[in-house]
Formats: sequence, structure tokens, C-alpha cells
Amino acid sequence: MGFPIAGKSYCDLNGASLEPRAAAIVVFGGTGDLSRRKIVPALYKLQLSGILPEGVRIIGFARRDQGDAEFRSSLRDACEKHSGGARIDGDEWGRFERRITYIRGDLGDPAAYGELAQALAAPGMPDDALFYLAVSPDSFETVARALAAAGLGSAGRGSESRARPSGSRRLVVEKPFGRDRMSARGLNAALQECFDESDILRIDHYLGKETVQNLLYFRFANSIFEPLWNSGHIQSVEIEVLESEGIGTRGGYYDGAGAARDMLQNHLIQLLCLTAMEPPATLDPEAIRDEKVKVLRSIRDYPREELLRRSRRGQYSAGLLSSGDGCPAYRDEPKVSPDSTTETYVSLRLEVDNWRFAGVPFVLRTGKALDRQLSEIRVNFRRPPAALFSGWCGDALSPNALAIRVQPDEGMALRFNVKIPGAARVGPSELRFAYREGNEDYFPEAYERLLADALAGDSTLFIRSDEAEEAWRIVDALEAAWAGGPPPESYPAGGAGPAEEGAEAWGL
Ligand code: BG6
Repeated sequence: MGFPIAGKSYCDLNGASLEPRAAAIVVFGGTGDLSRRKIVPALYKLQLSGILPEGVRIIGFARRDQGDAEFRSSLRDACEKHSGGARIDGDEWGRFERRITYIRGDLGDPAAYGELAQALAAPGMPDDALFYLAVSPDSFETVARALAAAGLGSAGRGSESRARPSGSRRLVVEKPFGRDRMSARGLNAALQECFDESDILRIDHYLGKETVQNLLYFRFANSIFEPLWNSGHIQSVEIEVLESEGIGTRGGYYDGAGAARDMLQNHLIQLLCLTAMEPPATLDPEAIRDEKVKVLRSIRDYPREELLRRSRRGQYSAGLLSSGDGCPAYRDEPKVSPDSTTETYVSLRLEVDNWRFAGVPFVLRTGKALDRQLSEIRVNFRRPPAALFSGWCGDALSPNALAIRVQPDEGMALRFNVKIPGAARVGPSELRFAYREGNEDYFPEAYERLLADALAGDSTLFIRSDEAEEAWRIVDALEAAWAGGPPPESYPAGGAGPAEEGAEAWGL
């Protein structure tokens, strides 16, 4: 049973979005982990799918002393490991590696930027350049300023740079973007002195995930859900990103950040924005980002005591992960302080105080070394009126719910009640949608989409300066509420996290 839709009724939005254009992609930190694991494999896969324009050139910029040949061969090795089994044969790889060159330089050394400027001006190089900061956040400002000093920035070109068909200069910035609102504001100001805001692309890789992009499509390309998408029909919304691994070798970074800065400030808050935002006036990037900022501005500043009641933080102790591997206590992980009070788990109950959602709790939860690997948004609908089934069954009648699974097993499930055959009995059933089914051929990774959009100059899936600052406002208040308070609760690695499981614990 079903509807005859396959292959017949697609509507291509290409006309509404921009096409990737050839550019020189300069990867600062070109020999680092991010470049090897994500950026270069994503570019290679874009070539395989025919999306990477022929003219794209890739310049690695790093401190290691090596030549083009050595750099290319290290990237081949990286692509073999991190392209998810993508085909790497001689011809295809040959075509890819001819795009790649290497510049050895210190991030703060003007001479190296002079060399870069020359390389970019060489015959055969595309007019556009994309500077990707895959370096430690302390160096973001240094690189941006050095680029501007070498004449490679775009600040002040403003509408001129937008109007010019070529010669664009864009800056891609990885997270974390600051460590609080004040530092994010300082960083925004520094970057904007070097690049026009429209040329600064702040990455939150969750926005590149197909299932996350689908939130907008699902909400606004259908007419049956949006009339229900408000406090009249929604009881609560749960947004979870649960991870089954501990922090592994990332202690050096993570111990200074914690779950709230590492995950809540960006990925979970972005999911909240996309779930709660109003329909944008158009599909234009600014129209979409304006609506996301409005959601953030509708979240109140809670007094300290209230924030403490609304939040929970935890830190894992030693345990057995779901993979079967043992996991040391967080405090015993490499590069973590033995008396660390950094949280590896956080939950926070927020309300979006606007006309549509006032009074609806949004519960955000994320943590490491938990019993599951799962990113999901659950929209819990109100029970039907007490007459008939609801009055009779009370809590035994499951409310309707919509689960949007971001990963793994991308898809959706809609829970509703049906009659159980053979008896006067009612019980839950569900409609399921598996996102990969029928889309096995091409299901791009987040970084593929984000790089293609960066080449197109489409900033929809990147974070605007005001979004970053507003998201920090929420996390700053939480950090301030926790400061000086009790340490995080301990939970065993491989377990469900601090005992608050499910909506019931919040009285939702
Ligand atoms: C990163 C965080 O931004 O996202 C990591 O720094 C986290 O701590 C990762 O593990 C999760 O991303 P994904 O795509 O694996 O869900």
C-alpha cells in the first residue's frame, strides 16, 4: 500500500540556491586532524559525486616541513581511512591530487602570507578564495589579521564584494567560537575588521546533516504538522544528543570546555532553533537566520536558583561502554585534571517565551559515555480531551508523539493509538520513515554539504554573529549558576546518565 510518488513529484530547489563555484581552498592547519578526517575526505567525495568544480584548488598551509608530494600522499592515506569506503583509484585520485599544493608557514609569519598571496595570484588559480581555519581557536584572530594584512581579506568591500561575480574572499571558522559571550563578541569584532560579515562562515556541522536540514523542509513543505506546532497542541519537546564514547584523547580541549560549551551552545541550541522558529519570509539565508535569532531572544534570562532547578550536570566515573570496552573515570582520562569539575553531561529545561510556544518546556540533554548513541528530537503532543478514551484510560493512553531521529538510523516515527484487533482495547502504533531507504546512492556527510555551500557562498547553514552571541548568553548564565555550586553528579560510564530519564522526571 502507498502513494505512487516515487520519481514523479520531486521539486528541484536548485534555482533557489546557489551553485558551488571554483575557488582556491586554503586549509590552515592542513596537516591536522580535522583536515585529514573531515575536510579533505569531504572534498574528495564532492569530486566523486561530480559536485566539486573542476577549477577548485586546495592549498594546505601548516608548519610541517614538507613538499607537495609528501602532503599529497599523506592526504591520500587520510582519504583511504576517512572517506567511508569511497572508491580511491588511480585516475580519480590523480585528478584530485593535481588540485593540491602545500605552503609551509607559521600562522603569524607575514612572509608566509606573502607567499600565499603570490600563489593565489599565479596563472591558473581561480579568482575566488576560501580560507578555512582548521586551527586552534586561539589562532583564529591571528590568521584573519594576517590575511587582511596581506591584502587577502574582504572587509570594507561590502556590497562591492557581493556584487562582484568573482574575486570573493571567504573565511570559514570552525568551533568553538569563543568560550563565552564576551569572547565571541570580541572575536566577531576582530574577524569583521578583516572580512565582511557576509563572507564569514561559522561552522556548526550539525546544520550540514541531512536530517537537520530536513527540519525546515518537513515543517514548512507540509500543511498537516504546522497547525499543530504550538502550545495548544504540543506538551513538551525533548532534544537529545547522547554519545556512547568517552572523551578519548580530547581531554586537553574538553576539560576547559565541558558539555555545555562543547555541545549545548551550538548543536543542541541549533536544533532547538530549527524546531521552534517561525516560518521565514523566504528561503533567503538572512530570512532564515533572522527567525533563528528571534527564537534565541525569546529565551528568558532565568535567575540563578531557577537555572539550578532547570539544569542538571554530571561527570562519568569508570564503567563499561556499550561497545564492551572499559572506560576510565573522566578524571583519569589523559590530559584531564584529576580533580576536574568539568561536566560531561548536561540537561537544561528552557522555555521559548513567544506567542507560539509560551509554557511549552524544551528539554535539552547531552552527554558522553552514555548507554546509547542517539541524536533525536521528540515532540510530545497533548492528550486528547478527557471524554471517551483519554478519560477512561488516563496515563495508559499514550499521547501522540513525533520522533525526528538525526542519527543513527535517520528518520522519523509518528506515534498514534489504534484499536487492538479482537478486543475492546486501545494501544500505540507508529508510522515510520527511514531516511536512507531509497536514498542509498547519495547521502552526503555534513562536511560535504557545508563545503559545497561555502563554495557557493550560501550562508544559510552557517552561524551568524548575533546567533553565536545569543547562544552564549544562555550558556554563560548556566555556567555562572553552576560556578561555586556543588560538583557535577557522578554517573557510571556506559549508563543512562544522572537519574532523570525521560519526560516524566521533569513532570512534563
Ligand atoms: C563536536 C563535539 O562538535 O561534535 C564533539 O566537539 C562531539 O565532542 C561531536 O563528539 C558530535 O558530532 P557527531 O556528528 O558525531 O554527532
